[in-house]
Amino acid sequence: MNELKLLLSREQIAARVVDIGKQITRDSAGESLVFIGVLKGAAIFLSDLVRHVDLDATFDFIGVTSYGNPPGPKQEKVWNSTGEVRLVKDVEHSLRGQNVILVEDILDTGLTLTFLKRLLLGHEPKSLRIAALLDKPERRRLKIEADYVGFTIPNEFVVGYGLDYAERYRNLPDIRILPGALEG
Ligand code: IMP
Ligand code: MG
Repeated sequence: MNELKLLLSREQIAARVVDIGKQITRDSAGESLVFIGVLKGAAIFLSDLVRHVDLDATFDFIGVTSYGNPPGPKQEKVWNSTGEVRLVKDVEHSLRGQNVILVEDILDTGLTLTFLKRLLLGHEPKSLRIAALLDKPERRRLKIEADYVGFTIPNEFVVGYGLDYAERYRNLPDIRILPGALEG
């Protein structure tokens, strides 16, 4: 696996996750938070992040699949503009009146987070913010931004630290570039 080109080392990631945790702690002082991780990619980021948030907090997970182009190193140019994202695992409890932080591995076209944001806003939370470890703004198809971004990265397909290609590489401790990416 170490033959894949390194983009972000485990040390860089760890330091940035501490920063984001501290920032969330400051921004939400005196409040309780509910972190919602998007399966499966965000599981590792969420588990590291919540340990750096010094507030009353709970967490849960939500699962989606997308019917469009499955993300991969050969990213096709045409996306289904209707955004075929489907819920496969819902949250356990209502988020009504809660301060919610939606935690995602990467903000790419924006289809997934747009879908999830709309879904979670339906719960009428007190607040809803997004924390994305990575942001690939060049690939954005829908206008959506995260409130907390770990790293803005170029248009490359990346794996590791939760991010997969066909379910593989999630366990790599660093974030690496999978070669073969076409311009999206
Ligand atoms: P979006 O809906 O296009 O914003 O894509 C979000 C989802 O696509 C993420 O949750 C990832 O699962 C996947 N994804 C997008 N880019 C990458 C990448 O570079 N590596 C691995 N997964 C990616
Ligand atoms: Mg994925």
